[in-house]
Amino acid sequence: MQNEQSLEMFVGAPPEWALHRPKPTLQSIYDFIGAPLRMVVLPDHVSERWHLTSLRAERLGVVLKAIEGKCLDVGAGDNMLVKLHRENSRDTCQSDKAMASEGVDVVDWGGGCTIVPGCTSLPYEDGTFDTVTFIACLNHIPERRQALAEALRVLRPGGLLIITMIGYIIGTVGHAIWWYSEDKHRDIADGEVMGMRPSDVDSLIENAGFVDIDVTKFVYGLNRMWLARRPV
Ligand SMILES: C[S@@+](CC[C@H](N)C(=O)[O-])C[C@H]1O[C@@H](n2cnc3c(N)ncnc32)[C@H](O)[C@@H]1O
Repeated sequence: MQNEQSLEMFVGAPPEWALHRPKPTLQSIYDFIGAPLRMVVLPDHVSERWHLTSLRAERLGVVLKAIEGKCLDVGAGDNMLVKLHRENSRDTCQSDKAMASEGVDVVDWGGGCTIVPGCTSLPYEDGTFDTVTFIACLNHIPERRQALAEALRVLRPGGLLIITMIGYIIGTVGHAIWWYSEDKHRDIADGEVMGMRPSDVDSLIENAGFVDIDVTKFVYGLNRMWLARRPV
């Protein structure tokens, strides 16, 4: 059943300027001055209205540059990553693969995701995707170890895993403050946490069997993006 809060929660695409990377210097300065607003007080769409780069645009900006080919976005929310990936790949040789990308979630936020009961058994053949993403959601997936094993299965050999995750302390403090956060609008499952220690994410990725693990920090080092590969 579609979540009735979806229109409030996820409100259209971020403006194009918010996704440009690297950011223009003036935008970086303005974002720094406005950091308390965009990182604590304001919902994403309000930050964007004030020309501040929202937290969702921060993660979308770095992830969109990294995605390859046909992507499965797990915990996809409003499916915005998949929609923007399709749009960005229009008129490129990746267009067909990008168009075949899809999102899955356990909650229907109204963006056209495939709704699944959980992420331990996804409805896809082995080796279906070039990229599997977990953007700001691995902490919300109680069965995260099995979800990464499932990601490995549905990735083609050599395929790319992308995870973004904030740290445990900033996540716990943040989720206490972010009055607009999606988790305020649904039931919280046992085993969900509000952020994760980087070393725990490293271990999960390694133990699931991924290789070539690489980590990039963004948003002043408060957020991280992991890239890793399914072995060939
Ligand atoms: C913070 S939102 C991130 C949404 C989106 N990935 C983004 O970057 O905007 C966390 C998402 O995880 C989803 N989620 C919660 N529990 C989940 C589970 N067990 N399996 C998959 N997704 C889950 C929520 O419904 C929500 O869409």
